[in-house]
Amino acid sequence: MKTLKIAIQKSGRLNEKSVELLKNCGLNFENYKSSLISPVSNFPLEILFLRDDDIPEYVQDGIADLGIVGENVIQETEVEVSYLQKLGFGKCSLKIAVPNNNSITALEQLNGKAIATTYPVILGKYLAEKNITSDIRTISGSVEISPGLGLSDAICDLVSTGGTLKSNGLVPFADVMSSEAVLIGQKGSENDDLVQELIQRIQSVLRAKE
Ligand code: PRP
Ligand code: ZN
Ligand code: MG
Repeated sequence: MKTLKIAIQKSGRLNEKSVELLKNCGLNFENYKSSLISPVSNFPLEILFLRDDDIPEYVQDGIADLGIVGENVIQETEVEVSYLQKLGFGKCSLKIAVPNNNSITALEQLNGKAIATTYPVILGKYLAEKNITSDIRTISGSVEISPGLGLSDAICDLVSTGGTLKSNGLVPFADVMSSEAVLIGQKGSENDDLVQELIQRIQSVLRAKE
């Protein structure tokens, strides 16, 4: 019999809620400790624990059949996958933020300014739509410290509680996109009986929470 693979985040904002959702679906598995793959004992499924940024491509390429990841990561990687279900957790928004002692009050003032981000694709499209040309500096993490180090004038990063911005002396300036965790599948996977069974279980867990 066929075994499905589902990729979830190995650590970070979505990990705990992703594990909780799968457990609430009645799936029995060992939570990630050192092994990056966990078999489910009572359903033909294996859980892969990955970096969230890699999940969309793994699903697109069929290395995993399914994935749980933020919409922001999917949009940034520009993959072709099927959106199967919004999951109602991991809500956050991608925002441009500026130092709290700044004099930037209008979007046009970002023209010619350096903006540090891990989301160059989404930010690039957003700025192009607004006819703004900034110097987008792509870095892979700790984006929030870059204005303080003199590396950028502004940042574009995910904001959830707002704690990271605040502790780095930044204030949100513009909303670029809002995001939450979604279940994605390889294109066409929605026609698979096992995938359907899993979607049904997830939907009944979500309904019970309403
Ligand atoms: C995001 C983002 C910020 C932090 C903001 O990281 O990059 O650093 O969360 O959260 P806060 O508003 O609650 O302080 P994420 O958890 O998505 O991890 P990753 O960027 O390493 O994938
Ligand atoms: Zn990430
Ligand atoms: Mg981050």
